Amino acid sequence: MRKMFITRGVAQPGRVLPSGGRSRWFDSSHPDQYCYHHCRYIVDLISQGMSKMATNDSLLKTPKQFNLLTQCLHGIIFLLISLQFYLAYRREFFPKDLPERLTYLLWHKSIGMLVLGLGILFILWSFIKKRPPYSLIARRWERMTAKTVHLLLFALIIAMPLSGYFMSQFADRPIQLFNIYTFHQWVTPDKAWADIFYQMHGYLSYALIGLVSVHVLGALVHYFIYNDDVVTRMFPFIKSRKF
Ligand code: HEM
Ligand code: HEM
Repeated sequence: MRKMFITRGVAQPGRVLPSGGRSRWFDSSHPDQYCYHHCRYIVDLISQGMSKMATNDSLLKTPKQFNLLTQCLHGIIFLLISLQFYLAYRREFFPKDLPERLTYLLWHKSIGMLVLGLGILFILWSFIKKRPPYSLIARRWERMTAKTVHLLLFALIIAMPLSGYFMSQFADRPIQLFNIYTFHQWVTPDKAWADIFYQMHGYLSYALIGLVSVHVLGALVHYFIYNDDVVTRMFPFIKSRKF
């Protein structure tokens, strides 16, 4: 016997799933509720591209998982961005121009420029490679929100490092890549512009925290409430709750 909790949102009239009104527990040993599991199964098949099978061979082309490069880049960028927040936070412990603070900033700038490079690759690759379809179990507004948040995250992966880059350029501060390469100073130093990019860098970091929170919340809803494969297709090492 398998029990699961479904919310009012999933069980709306006009959807393939049974309408229920209130949130409640479903029990797969009950014949009516067994039907519900069939519905879920069919919705899953459709979401994986089965609906197009009759007309062409797109099923073969519709991926069920994110490809390995997307999965790796997504994970690495997430880890590096988390590290960026840690380094920015740690630098505050040391007064301006102290060597320790500059070391933290050197690492912060280097990792930031690395995120810029990996981010461009991630975006190009994500637009070239076909992604798995958005979950059909989610409501329309949820899919729209997910798409919008993804687009904004793509934009922030680039805007965060670029604002940092221009902040340092206008402040005439060196930007290095792990002591291997020093970026050319090509902008005429200007304190007013350095301040604008400093402010922008700070505000964008708040936006990033907000969007990643919504993004993770969505992933948790898919994993624990919808029980679909949205999380496992990006993180294949996580155990699936799909039935
Ligand atoms: C994904 C990339 C990045 C993230 C998430 C990030 C995040 C942050 C955060 C949260 C702060 C603290 C802001 C504040 O205290 O108001 C900060 C400060 C800073 N960031 Fe970044 N950053 C990134 C990339 C870069 C890059 C590429 C550079 C330069 C090339 C850079 C240069 C700086 C500098 C110089 C500061 C400190 C300014 C100061 O203390 O005067 N950042 N960053
Ligand atoms: C800095 C942090 C993060 C950024 C910038 C980010 C960015 C993105 C982007 C742009 C996509 C869309 C990929 C595409 O459509 O090709 C995506 C997908 C995804 N992300 Fe993140 N992500 C971050 C953190 C996380 C975390 C912490 C989780 C963990 C729960 C997560 C879970 C997912 C999942 C499950 C998908 C696939 C969604 C789907 O199939 O529609 N992400 N992420």
